Amino acid sequence: MTETSPSAPPGQPLRLSVVGTGYLGATHAAGMADLGHDVIGIDVDQEKVDRLSKGEVPFFEPGLSELLRRGLDSGRLRFTTSYAEAAAHASVHFICVGTPQQSASNATEMRYVEAAIGELAAAVTGAALVVGKSTVPSGSAERLADRLRTEARPGARIELAWNPEFLREGTAVQDTLQPDRLVFGVAGEDAERQLRVVYRKVIEAGCPVVVTDYATAELVKVAANAFLATKISFINAMAEICEVTGGDVHTLAEALGHDERIGRRFLHAGLGFGGGCLPKDIRAFMARAEELGVVQAVSFLREVDSINMRRRARTVDLATQELDGDVAGARIAVWGAAFKPNSDDIRDSPALDVATTLQARGANVVVYDPQAVANARRCYPQLTYADSATAAAEQADLILHLTEWSEFRAMDPLDLEGVVAHRRIVDGRNALDRQRWRDAGWSYRALGRQ
Ligand SMILES: NC(=O)c1ccc[n+]([C@@H]2O[C@H](COP(=O)([O-])OP(=O)(O)OC[C@H]3O[C@@H](n4cnc5c(N)ncnc54)[C@H](O)[C@@H]3O)[C@@H](O)[C@H]2O)c1
Repeated sequence: MTETSPSAPPGQPLRLSVVGTGYLGATHAAGMADLGHDVIGIDVDQEKVDRLSKGEVPFFEPGLSELLRRGLDSGRLRFTTSYAEAAAHASVHFICVGTPQQSASNATEMRYVEAAIGELAAAVTGAALVVGKSTVPSGSAERLADRLRTEARPGARIELAWNPEFLREGTAVQDTLQPDRLVFGVAGEDAERQLRVVYRKVIEAGCPVVVTDYATAELVKVAANAFLATKISFINAMAEICEVTGGDVHTLAEALGHDERIGRRFLHAGLGFGGGCLPKDIRAFMARAEELGVVQAVSFLREVDSINMRRRARTVDLATQELDGDVAGARIAVWGAAFKPNSDDIRDSPALDVATTLQARGANVVVYDPQAVANARRCYPQLTYADSATAAAEQADLILHLTEWSEFRAMDPLDLEGVVAHRRIVDGRNALDRQRWRDAGWSYRALGRQ
């Protein structure tokens, strides 16, 4: 092992810990080891630690297994449940624990971050930098820095930095090794210097770095998510208008996208956003703005959220229309369970929201997803699951395409002849080739299009 310290000169590997080894933390830990650092991942979940230690990624993320295996084989990556072990090992500690929505309100559940800060304060003995990566409400970093100062053991010096994370599930490995920007929220030059050592290779490869205060760093993350959610809901609002005017939202988005001030990305109308970040982050932003007395500044996010949720209801309506006004007793194939393709994450999945609503109304719903069936089955045992798109479609009165996996785009409607009971499909993601399905004799319906 290389002897390192927070004051290691640029070029030397550091000893890091990554607290919380879920979607973000496991990827970050493996990514940091790949950059040459000596990394220990900590989690309270013994099973997760055991699986990661054996080279098993407990969720689906393209490229992460290989990265994890490389890290373990290099001897620069290991996992533990012990804060004492992590504190003895590392001089820089990344906090990657979850910050979900509170069960009784829109506010952020901070208990995991608070617990991690308390554990680190109790375990660190010398000089250390704690780096927050979890998405937190404005004002958290200032408060947590105070906590670390007051709760540190005698003789320990713990600084805090906030380094929000922008990785996207499905491309998390690339986003970690080649991020489009790094944001360092710091209260002093030493923290910035250490972060520049941590990310030296990434920065040398040309990644821009924005160095700022805690408040701005926290806000960059929630503002980015608010902007992206707004762009998605904007085009989905246009889809609502198209549905009554007879316009075509797909063509509208294409024409809008040619204006480079607007751009085409995130102007894709469909079932809307879900997952463990965007929905809870915009709600938490509103909740925090209310506490700060500036709720008007983000009141538009309430509408962004409502537009998004209305798309789910509209998809249920389209399905009902296709089934002549009554879903009870109908057999419905749902293609997709993950909240987005290339992930097995089903947190706030629009696909499963639609599937369970239709099931509750008496439909017999059969779900297939290339990666997320195990997670979906655990949380929604009332649904039936199939092990292929074709098996799900057997004797279906209607197919719903709800998560945009390339496997579904590649399906040939002619191959489903004799499989389904009725050739009807609702494309909740506006991603299938409409002409191809219609030419094959199917009733094809999509959001925001005729
Ligand atoms: N998932 C993403 O795509 C993504 C992207 C950017 C930012 N974020 C943010 O990153 C944070 C983590 O998100 P996630 O999706 O990885 O969540 P996750 O639920 O997948 O992982 C959180 C992990 O933290 C562990 N944990 C909880 N309390 C702990 C403690 N006291 N000590 C050690 N480990 C503890 C849990 O066991 C779990 O393994 C959130 O703030 C999220 O908003 C996530």
